[in-house]
Amino acid sequence: MTFEAMWRDLHPVGRSASSGGYNRSPWTSAESELRAWFTEAALARGLELETDGMGNQVGWWRPATPEAPGLPGVLTGSHLDSVLDGGAYDGPLGVVSALAAVDVLRARGFSPSRPIGVSVFTEEEGSRFGLACLGSRLVTGASAWADARERQDRDGVYLGDAVADAGLDPSTGLLSLDDVGCFVELHVEQGRDLVDRDVAVGVASEIWPHGRYRFDFSGEANHAGTTRMEDRRDPMLTYAMTALAANKQARLAGQRATFGRLEVAPNGTNAVPSRVTAWLDARCSSDAGLAELVDAISRQGSERASRDGTQLSVTAESVSGSVVFDPDLARDLAGIGGWPIIPTQAGHDAGILSAAGIPTAMLFVRNPTGVSHSPAEFAEMADCLAGVEALADTLAKLAS
Ligand code: GLV
Ligand code: MN
Ligand code: MN
Repeated sequence: MTFEAMWRDLHPVGRSASSGGYNRSPWTSAESELRAWFTEAALARGLELETDGMGNQVGWWRPATPEAPGLPGVLTGSHLDSVLDGGAYDGPLGVVSALAAVDVLRARGFSPSRPIGVSVFTEEEGSRFGLACLGSRLVTGASAWADARERQDRDGVYLGDAVADAGLDPSTGLLSLDDVGCFVELHVEQGRDLVDRDVAVGVASEIWPHGRYRFDFSGEANHAGTTRMEDRRDPMLTYAMTALAANKQARLAGQRATFGRLEVAPNGTNAVPSRVTAWLDARCSSDAGLAELVDAISRQGSERASRDGTQLSVTAESVSGSVVFDPDLARDLAGIGGWPIIPTQAGHDAGILSAAGIPTAMLFVRNPTGVSHSPAEFAEMADCLAGVEALADTLAKLAS
């Protein structure tokens, strides 16, 4: 099945008719459909399929006549889940390209001398349980199931229950990466670097440190009409000033700060709220810069809270340190096609595997809009196919 045919298969799954965006949260019917699709695609290719107790999957293409049995494998793949109302490419492009690259290599008559695995890690976006790269974190031991299972989604469903309801059971075991010698994740570019350079494919150098922080603002619920402005203890006001401070601090430092999620209680039009919970996503070029940025935003929020008669407490929900991908591997891969080596501010399972000590690389495919985590995310078919060829060349080099 061609790249185009696989892409058409995935097009309707989890797609919103109103926005054209995707809602492919983990352990929902959309994700089960995607897992079934991957299962079928892997089995149709004769790949040896492993599905673990979280829903992480790998399909292995084993060497027909292993020259040196036990050589570590080359893993490639990405994820099939999406952010809320996300694009079609973030994740699925890497999975479909990996399957298509296997087809290209077979059509070329290539026979690998080490196993090639096509992987799908679950809950990469952290859209449901708030912890990005959950599947790869559990597999690498960066997070423990005993802690993770207690996480709750927005409806109060525990992760442990969501996984069980999907018919999965982590106690049956998780994927082992012991036999993985390197990992390559192909991904749509989420900025405009490749567009500006006028090239279809790039190689990643590093991932900026980034984190998610919960800001709990509390105040006093009161009547919107009868409470004089000077008598209010309004947490929405403190939140609003903190959001402006975050934007200013990030701009001054050349970094990134976003409040993209908010919960308000009681959320009534004619009442001063009692509580506002806001989630900050912050990203910086260095670990120290990230800590300073979050400190500055928290400090300014607290100062504002004391003027507003409200309270602020800040909780780091997840922090991912700087990842520098194996520079020799990046240089080798860049040499295949003369591809540029560029940094990214987005998080990926590749960052988790790299931090776990697995030599890791990423290939990026040009995105003409530079827009991502949005229905407007896009890549031209010609660039997607150039990405497949680039990945096939990469796998041929690594698995020879
Ligand atoms: C994942 O895509 C992230 O960067 O948040
Ligand atoms: Mn993403
Ligand atoms: Mn992604």
